[in-house]
Formats: sequence, structure tokens, C-alpha cells
Amino acid sequence: MKKIAAVLLSICFAITAFVPSYAAVSEEWNEYWNTYEAQSGIVCFPGADETQRNISWYSEAEGTPLVEVTNTATGDVEKVEGYCIKTYDGDFANKVTLTGLQPDTTYSYKCISRDYESQSYTFSTEAEVFSAMYVTDIHISHDDGNPDSIRDQSYNFTQVLKKAESKSNISLILSAGDQASEGREDEYKGLTASRESRELSFATAVGNHDRKGVAYKYFKNVPNEQKVNINSSYISGDYWFVKGDVLFMVMDSNSGSGLDHHIFMKNAVKANKDIRWRVVMMHHDLYSGRIPHRESETKLMRIIWAPLFDEFGIDLVLTGHSHYYSVSDVMYNNRIVSETSKDCVINNAEGTVCMVSGSINRPRNDDESTLGLNDTAGYIYDEQGDKILYNIIDFGKETIKVSSYSTDSDDPFNTLTLCKTDKNGGHPSKIAPPQNIFIYTIGTIYQFFNNISVYSRLKDDGIDIGFFQALFSR
Ligand SMILES: [Fe+2]
Ligand SMILES: [Fe+2]
Repeated sequence: MKKIAAVLLSICFAITAFVPSYAAVSEEWNEYWNTYEAQSGIVCFPGADETQRNISWYSEAEGTPLVEVTNTATGDVEKVEGYCIKTYDGDFANKVTLTGLQPDTTYSYKCISRDYESQSYTFSTEAEVFSAMYVTDIHISHDDGNPDSIRDQSYNFTQVLKKAESKSNISLILSAGDQASEGREDEYKGLTASRESRELSFATAVGNHDRKGVAYKYFKNVPNEQKVNINSSYISGDYWFVKGDVLFMVMDSNSGSGLDHHIFMKNAVKANKDIRWRVVMMHHDLYSGRIPHRESETKLMRIIWAPLFDEFGIDLVLTGHSHYYSVSDVMYNNRIVSETSKDCVINNAEGTVCMVSGSINRPRNDDESTLGLNDTAGYIYDEQGDKILYNIIDFGKETIKVSSYSTDSDDPFNTLTLCKTDKNGGHPSKIAPPQNIFIYTIGTIYQFFNNISVYSRLKDDGIDIGFFQALFSR
């Protein structure tokens, strides 16, 4: 029996040996880490909708990148060209968009650029119902004093993926910012070294730590990114995509430019009027109140963002930044519409629920007596501050169910279920409060000066991104 088991194990290992995923043990991961494949930074971002995928990877040489994509059922092969841009690190970022994908179909693909041809990866397109993993603050971190820090933290992330995949057949990763701690290219390569980042759709929001460098600008390949901005942060813009019956709007909350966010959301909603659910993902949280010295920041965030959520009828907002889990009450016009509680079910909410999840590599362990509670917003907290958290979100036809886990337990410590019978998006029974364009304008002016400050800081660090680029481009 032992011999049979050993043979079966070795066959399983041979199948998955090239790119370890959740089945990897640390020693295998360490061996894989030193290969070019691990360091190629291949990532599969969502496309504009389920008929598309956006692929990105790094190469040492410049050339026209190609993705060779195969329909595994028919055997049809297509080669899709993309474009290549030089990064600040001196290598090249390759971007290819796959279009015309069929529903409920499995594809394999390879990334090809000059002398490099990647291993084969697979992904499947889906119909209306799907599941996602929502995490935040993955914080892959370079550390001058520890050459293995990126490798080990990348491994930690694979272990969270392992847990999530054991719970559900997830096809989308939602990551609410601070993927990297210093915004370095090697940190993004660590983030994307697992097979899952190449086979699931990996949607990322830009966090304040991602904005410490410029690598995020080259790392991302996102759909429907807002092209023209009055002002925005220099490495990313807002973008949207549709999956199933959900419109995801991924916002750059580093930018306080309310006018730009307003234009973006208006256009995104207008283009997707018939989509039932509207979900926002962004980095900064609005209500957590858990870290008292950040309360002034969250109050400012509320002034800009809460009216946008009201006007565009956002159902759910996924955030991070505080590294403490919380779920808001249903909020509208800066007031509590209805209260939430542990394991609650909300029917046809007439407002927005905002969530914060905990960090993957930097769970906090603050002295409880130093922490605050935002009792005015009635938010719930858990006792999971020092644990590694992840959430499985099941997007059904009439429900969104969020099950929140820590990696040390197989049972969720909280669930949140939103039910909506109305097929139209937004909250139709609500009349949006008057929009304060003056506040949005103040935010846009603030962002102008904030960008000058970031430009100066980067220049001091030896990175000159160009004055006008810092102010106006992504
Ligand atoms: Fe963070
Ligand atoms: Fe943050």
C-alpha cells in the first residue's frame, strides 16, 4: 500500500511540479522561487467582461509580446499580440488582452516574448454565478535585513489561497490594496508567483503602500481604466469590469479627486445599467474607527466617497488599510439606514455596506486599550485583529454572501448576506441627496498639491517620473 501511495504521490507531484500552488510545501516553494518562471511576474487580470482576460508579465528583452491561447475543447489556437513598455527597473512589462472568449469554456495559454516561452496555464470562463476570494493588505515586503522576506511572504499568500480553494471553487481574487509594501517590482513578482495568480482573475486596487514606488504602473493591466483625468494619482486610475451580474468598480482611493471619481462612476454605471449588483473595491476604509489616529483620515474619506456611493447606489464596498476587520451598518446620506449584526441577512438594502478585512502578512496586534470604536456608525468588529483573514464571496443570482475566515479555523467567524430581488442596479427607491460638486472640486485641488508632494519625494529617492506625468497621468 505504501508503494502504491508513493507512486500516486509522485505522479501528482509530477503534474504540479512546475509551478507549485497550494499543494506546495515550503521546500518546494524555495526551489521554485529561484527559477525564471517564478520571477516572470505573469498575472491574469480580469478583462472588461467574461469574454476577455488581460495578461501581463515581465521580460528581460524588448519585443512584441504574444499570448498563445488554446480552446481546450476544440483545440483551436490563436496568437494574440500586445505591447511592451520599458519599466523604471530597466526590464520590460508586456501587456496582452485576450478577446472573444466563449462562455463556460476552458482555455490554456502561454506567454511568449523574444527568447522566453512560459509554461502553460489554464483558466475557465463562467456564466452568471461565481465565487471570489476577497483579501487585502497582502503586503509582500522587501526587507534589506532579510533576503528571503519576499519569497517567504509570497509563500504565506499561497497558503491563504490554499485555504480559500479548499472552501470554494473561486475564480476571482479581489485584493483591496497594499499588495506590496514599498511598491517595488520584486514585490509584485512575489505577489504573482503562484499558479493561482495566473489562472484566476486577479483584480487589484492600488493602496498607499503601492504608491511608494512606481512599479505598480507597469505591473497592472486593467480594463476600462479612466483615460482622461483632471487629476489623479500617477500610477493608477479607476477601472471597471463586469463578471456575472456584478459591476465591479475598482477605485484609486489615493486620489482625492472627487470630480474624476464622479465622472468615472457615472460613465461606468451608464454603460452597465442592467447589471444588478454594484460593488466598489478600494483601499482606504471609511468608517473603521479602530485606529484612533486615523479617524481624521477616515472622516475626510467619508466626505468624498459616501455621496458617490449614495448617488450611484453601491451595494457593497470592499476595503482594507486599517488591517482590522469590520462590517458597517447599511449607510445612506451619512446615516444608518438599518443595523447589521453578526451573521446577518439584509433584504433589499436601501444603502451601502462597507467592509474592511485584515492583512495577510501584517496582521496587527495592538494593545486593545489603544484601539477605538466608532459607535456612531455602529460598526461591528471581531476579535481577529492578530489573525490572517480571508473572505469567500458567493455571487449568486439574487444574493451576495460573504463568509469571513481566519486561517486557523475551518468555520467562518462571520457571514454577511445581501439579498436583492430588483433586477436593476442601484437603490431605485432612494432619491440621491444633492451632490456637493464644491466638495469634489476641493478634493481635486487637494490632489494637485498631493501629487506635487509625491513627485518631490520620489525625486529625492532618485526616481524622476516627470512633473506633468506626476500631476496628470497614470
Ligand atoms: Fe496596509
Ligand atoms: Fe494602507
